[in-house]
Amino acid sequence: MKSYLQDMNIPPEKTTVIIQGFGNVGSEAALALYEWGAEIVGISDFTGAIYNPKGVNLKDALAYTAQNRSLQGFTGGEAVTNDELLEMPCTVLIPAALERVITGKNAAKLKCRVLAEGANGPTTNEADEIITQRGDIELIPDVLCNSGGVIVSYFEWLQNLQNYYWTKGEVFDKLHRMLAKAKSSVDETQKKYGCSRRTAALVLGISRVAEAKAKRGLFP
Ligand SMILES: NC(=O)c1ccc[n+]([C@@H]2O[C@H](COP(=O)([O-])OP(=O)(O)OC[C@H]3O[C@@H](n4cnc5c(N)ncnc54)[C@H](O)[C@@H]3O)[C@@H](O)[C@H]2O)c1
Repeated sequence: MKSYLQDMNIPPEKTTVIIQGFGNVGSEAALALYEWGAEIVGISDFTGAIYNPKGVNLKDALAYTAQNRSLQGFTGGEAVTNDELLEMPCTVLIPAALERVITGKNAAKLKCRVLAEGANGPTTNEADEIITQRGDIELIPDVLCNSGGVIVSYFEWLQNLQNYYWTKGEVFDKLHRMLAKAKSSVDETQKKYGCSRRTAALVLGISRVAEAKAKRGLFP
């Protein structure tokens, strides 16, 4: 995420973030971007949404949800609906709760520069077409954007096989290198085929599986 913003010459102090969903993915994404220096202007959960153009106090929001198990009653900003929150102005919009929340109805109304798919399948095909036609939103597809969790699960499997465990620093270092490589491979594929970033990520992933299957021959 940060490297996409760096590519766009958007520094942390000029980055505002709205996140739908304040669970594992949403709260960790919020914390990482907040610590980087971005302003979190909107958060939400199943009980509703909070918008604060001056910045939601993230530490307060995390402490509040830890105690109350939801954002209901949190007073760190203006209460808005979940649908309204998605259409508020921001640099980065992160749907990190549910599938199919960016739809044909709201895609034309989004006011973000980057749509980072924290959740799996948050954008419908219809919305995807509208966003591609608009051409003013950088979409980071789920398969790329939220792959960190699966990569670290793979790291856990690898470490368990060897009974040899890495430090947290080693895990993050390997993760960041793998994500940077994935980003540049997708960028190259996008340039090669002149397609969307989502199509490029899928072309790359599917062709790797096809290549591995061809090399292995008929199996089992
Ligand atoms: N946890 C992971 O490792 C991981 C990795 C990659 C992708 N994902 C995907 O990310 C998404 C979220 O996963 P999670 O693990 O953070 O789940 P979670 O259950 O921890 O959090 C979900 C959050 O969404 C909120 N929510 C539910 N309905 C909502 C609504 N209508 N409007 C706004 N917010 C609503 C919940 O209140 C909660 O805060 C899912 O699509 C999941 O498949 C998760």
